[in-house]
Amino acid sequence: MCLLAGCSAHIPTDGRVDKAAHQIQLLLKETDKVKEQNEQRNLVAPRTIEAGRLKLVPSRDWTSGFFAGCLWYLYELTGDNGWKEQAISYTIDIEKEKFNAGTHDMGFKIYCSYGNGYRLTHSPQYRDVIIKAAKTLSTRYNAKVGAIRSWDHNQDKWEFPVIIDNMMNLELLFEATKLTGDSSFYQIAVAHANTTMENHFREDFSSWHVIDYNPETGAVVHRHTHQGYAHHSAWSRGQAWALYGYTMCYRETHDPRYLQQAEAVAAYMFNHPNMPSDFVPYWDFDAPDIPAEPRDVSAAAIMASALYELSTFSEKNEGYYAKADAIMRNIEDTYASRPGTNKGFILGHSTGSKPSDSEVDEPLIYADYYYLEAMLRAKNRLN
Ligand code: GLY
Repeated sequence: MCLLAGCSAHIPTDGRVDKAAHQIQLLLKETDKVKEQNEQRNLVAPRTIEAGRLKLVPSRDWTSGFFAGCLWYLYELTGDNGWKEQAISYTIDIEKEKFNAGTHDMGFKIYCSYGNGYRLTHSPQYRDVIIKAAKTLSTRYNAKVGAIRSWDHNQDKWEFPVIIDNMMNLELLFEATKLTGDSSFYQIAVAHANTTMENHFREDFSSWHVIDYNPETGAVVHRHTHQGYAHHSAWSRGQAWALYGYTMCYRETHDPRYLQQAEAVAAYMFNHPNMPSDFVPYWDFDAPDIPAEPRDVSAAAIMASALYELSTFSEKNEGYYAKADAIMRNIEDTYASRPGTNKGFILGHSTGSKPSDSEVDEPLIYADYYYLEAMLRAKNRLN
């Protein structure tokens, strides 16, 4: 079925892809409506539903690149040029972020949008954006610490905060080295991954969220968990970022320590007594009122995508592929939006930040993004 005006390809897809495509088609329509009402013209992409309304964000928001990424994935999953046209249009809106040195979120913004766009089109323009973005991100690297600084906010609380999420931004740096031959991006990514491996993890391989460093000496000053239940707790999405991040680092470097780290993080999560039988984690593994705590479908989607990839590298007999399949099935059976609801988000029941009472049990665009990526990984492995 041709879903978008102007599309020409007719490639049969399975029911799962069709369902997702119908939802995102609705999300496109809803997004365009809100964009038209936005007088400042600064809102570029959907993020969540807030008080019953679709919430759009400006390009500087860490989630701005995920919607373009969803559109690229749908193009890849369907071969339908209508999705490609929409993906191109939503990707352009993120370009100015290549100059934004005020945050570490460059990978989320630029790699999910331009990175996927480049992978699928080889556009030289996209290549230049990726390289510029990597250069900008590199300015946040501190050699004394051996890591990229994540946040600039809350300077009264942290001097040089590095969050586990930052592992995800390294993929952009690995790509920039491949595109330019300049190994400095690769070296920064590896140093960051090594520093994080040394300081972010507890003995049981759960991860703190924020490690605060002294930027002059590189010493660890604080170990915090800002978006989780408590500093000592295991915030679920943070664990998922760690699993995905070290799996990706192994793909890019073939350093066996990264593979072992990813396997250890997976073992921590799947052996945890509070991991539900459907593998869709509560928002924090140590949340006090489990089982009466919200789930985080975004963590489950990130895990599914990571596990599909991990299953291609690991020699352990841990059933990573089957676990990813189970997550996908359970997400679809229990946590997906009913067709035509949730403003077009594919999945519901994610948790953005429970401590701030923000985006609790709501759709989140990055849950949809990693779900589509996982779908693609499953499809490619089966083909
Ligand atoms: N990177 C922000 C989050 O995971 O909420």
